[in-house]
Amino acid sequence: MNDDDAGEGLALNRRWWEERAPLHVSGDFYDIDRFLDGTNTLLPWETEELPDVSGRSLVHLQCHFGLDTLSWARLGAQVTGLDFSKNATAAACDIADRAGIDARFVAADVYDAISALGATYDIVYTGHGALNWLPDLDRWASIVSELLNPGGELYLAEFHPGIDVMSLTELEVDTDFFDLAAGLRFDDAAGSYATAKTDTANNSVMEWTHGLGRVVTALASTELRIERLVEHDAIAYPRFPFLERGADGAYRMPAGKPRIPLSYSLKARKPGDSGR
Ligand SMILES: C[S@@+](CC[C@H](N)C(=O)[O-])C[C@H]1O[C@@H](n2cnc3c(N)ncnc32)[C@H](O)[C@@H]1O
Repeated sequence: MNDDDAGEGLALNRRWWEERAPLHVSGDFYDIDRFLDGTNTLLPWETEELPDVSGRSLVHLQCHFGLDTLSWARLGAQVTGLDFSKNATAAACDIADRAGIDARFVAADVYDAISALGATYDIVYTGHGALNWLPDLDRWASIVSELLNPGGELYLAEFHPGIDVMSLTELEVDTDFFDLAAGLRFDDAAGSYATAKTDTANNSVMEWTHGLGRVVTALASTELRIERLVEHDAIAYPRFPFLERGADGAYRMPAGKPRIPLSYSLKARKPGDSGR
């Protein structure tokens, strides 16, 4: 894919997300009332693997309208969220106000994050359907590294790239992994995982599936040191209709069915003394 295609893809994606952000805010999928009642949205392995955020600065890249960002704030982090949808960041500010949480939200492309944020952080957090919107993972990795303070860490909690080859309805492979890795344009992406197909007018997107090898290699090419990579048998949302929701809020294969990795998490650290 050349730079023109990548630029066109980012422009399509921005329009797609700008239209969906308010629909997601007003819909049931994200259950904002539950969040406002005090329930955090982070998954159990996220708070286990990133246990002590209190007093640390955290930037959430591609934060959507900020429920995960604000959940980290409730655990004591000083949070900033960045997303290229102005509708999403405006909604995030409104939810932060309603929840009485101190947070900053910035509307900007990830690829402009250094200048748009004008700060560095102890933690960069991202994931749950973030990397698939980015054409250039090497540039993303170098921006993540630049955003971190010495001793700071990236915590990436992402959907497993292997699931992108599977049919959305059946337990069968229907998509070529390597075509997806090169980037694919879809002109029939009406609706979304959180809103009906009839609700939307901007229905073209471009997505890239970045395999674990690509993600690790991009990060290993920066000064970051990868500390852990864990595959999980659960995922944050009902990606396939046959998944079952557990008491922890995550979705898994039904009992008795062979499990596949549905998500992964990765930690990488910038060399230096964090002062903690
Ligand atoms: C599936 S959402 C991420 C999920 C999010 N973690 C949540 O809690 O819902 C993907 C987000 O990435 C944002 N996005 C996509 N491409 C982007 C880019 N190039 N720069 C900044 N944000 C981007 C979209 O606006 C959207 O809010």
